[in-house]
Order: sequence, then structure tokens, then C-alpha cells
Amino acid sequence: MKAIVIEEFGTVDQLVMTEIDRPVLKDNRLLVEVHATSVNPVDTKRRKGLFGGTLPMIVGGDVAGVVVEVGSQVTGFTVGDRIMANGARTYAEIVSVNPDRAVKLADHVSFEETAAIPLAGQTAYEAIIKRGQVSEGDRVLIHAGAGGVGSLAIQLAKIQGAYVSATAGPDNQELLKMLGVDHPINYREKEFAKELSDIDFVLDTLGGDVLKQSVSVLKEKGHLLSIAEEPDQKRAEEKQINADFFSMSPTREGLEALNRWLTDGKLKPILSKVVPFTEEGVRDAHELSETGHVRGKIIIKIKE
Ligand SMILES: NC(=O)c1ccc[n+]([C@@H]2O[C@H](COP(=O)([O-])OP(=O)(O)OC[C@H]3O[C@@H](n4cnc5c(N)ncnc54)[C@H](OP(=O)(O)O)[C@@H]3O)[C@@H](O)[C@H]2O)c1
Repeated sequence: MKAIVIEEFGTVDQLVMTEIDRPVLKDNRLLVEVHATSVNPVDTKRRKGLFGGTLPMIVGGDVAGVVVEVGSQVTGFTVGDRIMANGARTYAEIVSVNPDRAVKLADHVSFEETAAIPLAGQTAYEAIIKRGQVSEGDRVLIHAGAGGVGSLAIQLAKIQGAYVSATAGPDNQELLKMLGVDHPINYREKEFAKELSDIDFVLDTLGGDVLKQSVSVLKEKGHLLSIAEEPDQKRAEEKQINADFFSMSPTREGLEALNRWLTDGKLKPILSKVVPFTEEGVRDAHELSETGHVRGKIIIKIKE
């Protein structure tokens, strides 16, 4: 089968289409034919070697596809099921999937839109629903609202009934409004820290100055949650807010909730580009991701 393999850490030239062995089915796993996966910033960071790891390496965390083999201990799935899953090594035609990290898709949901969900959606779910406990009437700020995580986090915060402010550049202001943002902020023209106060919950996706300045917009006992870097605890204590960082851990509960919202149309992934499963397509996708200005998600279409 074909996979995009990284032989050495480095530039996009290290993404090489290679013929490799199909994964061997384990008793407690599914083998899934991947129809679409997506690019997450972590893929490009891994490609550059920022997290180390053993080479050769295949990156990718999103699976949208069809079950082709079912391990003997697995219940609840059969060959032919259309599924989405949090996976690993997903830039490949077939992947081994943990059934606890997989859910069946409704017939009307496309593989391309589905591929936008698992990693970014579980991150948004953990941030907004589990850790943020965002609820009706909360005042929420989401940074990089046009990004893969931000565009889903906005939709989850709106589902929860929050009043949502979000930042994006000038070209993405209409998108923020379309996603239901109550107070869109063009960060190139306005400083969010001067626009906002009394916020209950901030999701920081950018770190650096954005993280530092976010402290000042929160109300006392408000919550600053970052997926980019550890907040400064001393400053958080001075301002009497809660501040923390997390690395997403996928849950079945999260995937099921995301699947329900995807099925009933409450959650609409934003797809900026669909690239073919070729060296050129995947290299283009990584270059685009590394600009830091992707709108929503880039999808890699592996199979029709
Ligand atoms: N800790 C975790 O578990 C976890 C999980 C997922 C992701 N992450 C990390 O979280 C970060 C975001 O992930 P992502 O997938 O959402 O990234 P992404 O899709 O690549 O984000 C791109 C978006 O960022 C926006 N942006 C860039 N600079 C901005 C600024 N100064 N203010 C506001 N918006 C800005 C861009 O909008 P404009 O073009 O309009 O500027 C663009 O839409 C990445 O570093 C990723 O590695 C961490």
C-alpha cells in the first residue's frame, strides 16, 4: 500500500510517497481504508523533528474511511462501516485503528468534511466542554477563530449558548460572522485587549503576546486555557484567574458528541482546500499549513 513517509526530519521535500507493508490486524483493532485525512500543525512540527521520534515516520491524526478488517476481540463494528477515528500514521491507504477511538458515520456525512474533525474537534471539545465547562451566557474569547481548532471551538461555544468573541485577520471576518461569532475582532486593526473585558473563558491557540495579553481581559476567577504554551502562573495569581495548558487526549465521549453534531448539521467543518494524495499535494498542504493562515482545514483525499 502507499504511504507518505518521512525518512529524515526536515523540509517538505522529506514527504515521500513510498510503497510499504499493509498493517497487520491485531485482535483488538480495526483495519480501515482511509478515504480522507487532514493536515494539523502538529504534522508539520513532527516532520521538522520538533518532537523527535523514530524514523522512518508517518504522520497524521485524522481518519475518515471504511472498515476493511475487524479484529477477533472487537465488537460493534463490521466490514464496510463508514467511520471517523482519532488515529496515528494516517497519511496512508490503510491504518490500524483502536475501536475505542472510532465512531460510525451517518450516510449523508462526507469523508472529506469528517476528516476535519477528529484531532481539531477533540481539542475543541476538551477545551470548551470538558475543561472550560462553557455554558449558557458565558462570555468567551477564542483566538484564531478561523483556524482548524478555533472554527470548531466557536461552534461548540455557540452550541453551549455562550456570547462569543473571536479574533481573525481581515479576510476572515465574514467567516467569523458566519460561524455565529457575536463580536468578531480583526486583530490587524484592533487590539483585543482594548476591546474586551469581563470575559469568563479564553481559549488561546497562539501563545506569546496573545497569551500574555489575554490575562487582562478575564474577570476575577475567569479561566485562561492555552493549547499553545504554559501560561505564566505568577501573573495568573496576581490577576486571580485560573490559567492552564493541555495536550489533547481523545475520548469516546468527545468523538460521539462531535459525531452527533456533525450528523445533525450543528457542526460544520470549514474546508479551505482538498489536496490529492500525491507527494506534490501533501507537500503543498504542509507549506500552506506552515503559513499559519489556513482557513479551517486542509484535507488530503486518499480514495474516491
Ligand atoms: N495542545 C494541544 O493538544 C493542541 C491540539 C491541537 C492544536 N494545537 C496547536 O494549536 C495551534 C492552533 O492549531 P490549529 O489547527 O487551529 O492551527 P491553524 O488551523 O493552522 O490556525 C491557522 C489560523 O490562525 C489564525 N491566526 C494566525 N495568526 C493570528 C493572530 N495573531 N490572531 C488571530 N488569529 C491568527 C489564522 O487566521 P488569519 O489568516 O485570519 O490570520 C488562521 O486561520 C497550533 O500551534 C497547534 O499545533 C495544540
